[in-house]
Amino acid sequence: MTDETPHARKFYDRIAGVYDAIADSSEHHAREEGLRLLAVQPGERVLEIGFGTGHTLLTLAETVGEEGHVRGIDISQGMCDVAEKRLAEAGYAERVQLDVAEVPPLPYEDASLDAVTCSFTLELFGLDVIPSVIDEVKRVLVPGGRFGVVSMAVTPEGEKDSVLEKTYKWMHHHFPHIVDCQPIDAAGFLEQSGLEITAREDIVMWTMPVIALVGTAPG
Ligand SMILES: C[S@@+](CC[C@H](N)C(=O)[O-])C[C@H]1O[C@@H](n2cnc3c(N)ncnc32)[C@H](O)[C@@H]1O
Repeated sequence: MTDETPHARKFYDRIAGVYDAIADSSEHHAREEGLRLLAVQPGERVLEIGFGTGHTLLTLAETVGEEGHVRGIDISQGMCDVAEKRLAEAGYAERVQLDVAEVPPLPYEDASLDAVTCSFTLELFGLDVIPSVIDEVKRVLVPGGRFGVVSMAVTPEGEKDSVLEKTYKWMHHHFPHIVDCQPIDAAGFLEQSGLEITAREDIVMWTMPVIALVGTAPG
């Protein structure tokens, strides 16, 4: 357990009931693009890390169909309760297994998943923890499995941060308990961990750069 754990859990438990009202309108486009790039197929076994209120889990459950299986892991019981209700109302409770636990580690067997997805969550981990998260993802993926990431991105070299981006970084630096995430070089982290970037889309969210990526494990 890291020093941040009690805060992250309490923070997301507290905002679970209003998370969609705060974040969904800005985040859903990027999240959907990430899923499009990941191109999950019927029958696949898929995990979402940091599933939040469960929008992606619902799409994944529809996509994998009866032959497939979806898992989700999230640190917050509050988020899990919201996601569970969404899935039950849609009739997918049986197809999705939810775990409330801190990542890393991932409590799943080696080479047991075809794809792992993670949106607006990888950038919540400390820069020194992200490689361990990706190593765990690699461990649970089958050879050739895919890791889909949607995250706040660093501003491309030679371009200036927007005012909002500057404010965001300043807030994260000074008030990390309020703005808990920071823009990251997600492609760099994936490549350094030995994943090959096989799909990529640059997105702008309220003047801030966001990236949707797929990193593929060696076959
Ligand atoms: C910003 S929300 C994103 C939710 C969702 N992926 C989306 O795009 O709407 C981040 C989620 O990651 C979860 N989370 C944060 N730190 C975590 C950790 N160390 N292990 C597992 N889940 C974590 C939070 O509880 C929250 O549900």
